[in-house]
Amino acid sequence: PLISMRQMLDHAAEHDYGIPAFNVNNLEQVRAIMMAAQATNSPAILQASAGARKYAGAPFLRHLIQAAIEEFPDIPVVMHQDHGTSPAVCQRSIQLGFSSVMMDGSLMEDGKTPSSYEYNLKVTQQAVAMAHACGVSVEGELGCLGSLETGMAGEEDGVGAEGVLSHEQLLTDPEEAADFVAKTQVDALAIACGTSHGAYKFTRPPTGDILAIDRIKEINRRIPNTHLVMHGSSSVPQDWLAVINEFGGAIPETYGVPVEQIQEGIKNGVRKVNIDTDLRLASTGAIRRFMAENPSEFDPRKYLAVSTQAMYEICKARYEAFNTAGQASKI
Ligand code: G3H
Ligand code: 13P
Ligand code: NA
Ligand code: ZN
Repeated sequence: PLISMRQMLDHAAEHDYGIPAFNVNNLEQVRAIMMAAQATNSPAILQASAGARKYAGAPFLRHLIQAAIEEFPDIPVVMHQDHGTSPAVCQRSIQLGFSSVMMDGSLMEDGKTPSSYEYNLKVTQQAVAMAHACGVSVEGELGCLGSLETGMAGEEDGVGAEGVLSHEQLLTDPEEAADFVAKTQVDALAIACGTSHGAYKFTRPPTGDILAIDRIKEINRRIPNTHLVMHGSSSVPQDWLAVINEFGGAIPETYGVPVEQIQEGIKNGVRKVNIDTDLRLASTGAIRRFMAENPSEFDPRKYLAVSTQAMYEICKARYEAFNTAGQASKI
């Protein structure tokens, strides 16, 4: 069944686990996530970005997620709008039947220019007033996602700030978080704690703490009743990078957030863990390999099946690593 983000994350907080929120754009991603949720008895968060709506169109996205709910009636599902750039975008998603929206007021409507605190407060308050009146949850964002190494947002064409960010912008301020939550009543808060969007997060193999764990702890201490969200949580699997590059790809050396670091975050209040890039890499690697090894095949179902399987395995591994597995039937 479709449930709100608040209901799902409240359960996760009560039982100390995290939930991966996977981005969806097409049938194969939706099926991979739902099959893995079913196999592991995990609740599922399916999230659609503005880019997803542009690619698939709102009706197809909505019906894909409805189909998932119909085919997997035992799995609690949250249908979440990722990175809404204005209250109007959130309103349209609420009308489409989403059970949760993200009002990302950390950036202006262009999705690139960092905003003022006052602007963020204002648009988030507007989104919450609308959403809560409809029983829909709201995720806000405070701070700007970007690499602590370079100050860059990471994604060239996706969601993210333009230019170099200061250390201050790159780490959410706990005092400000407490004020923001008190004034907006958001259900969940995306924080900046050392992650960035996309495949190019770190140029060297991460050793030790690459997340600002102390900062996460302090934010959690200040806003214990608001669920923390970690964007940019792909681990960038080295085995899939190797497959991509072995079969004609050209992706430079790059690293993501190690699963153990995410587990550390979950121990300290992170409940929603956003993952998009890992499924993109697994899908691309599987298709490249299939194409190279089966040069006479031309039935898309053949290569899309290996893509689905590759994404399924990533989803299953994340459900298990975040202790999401086993929880669906308990919500
Ligand atoms: O936050 C960014 C997500 O990875 C969505 O990416 O805007 O290309 O759909 P997208
Ligand atoms: P990744 O690019 O690390 O998968 O992050 C996705 C994300 O945060 C979507 O909102
Ligand atoms: Na989100
Ligand atoms: Zn994000």
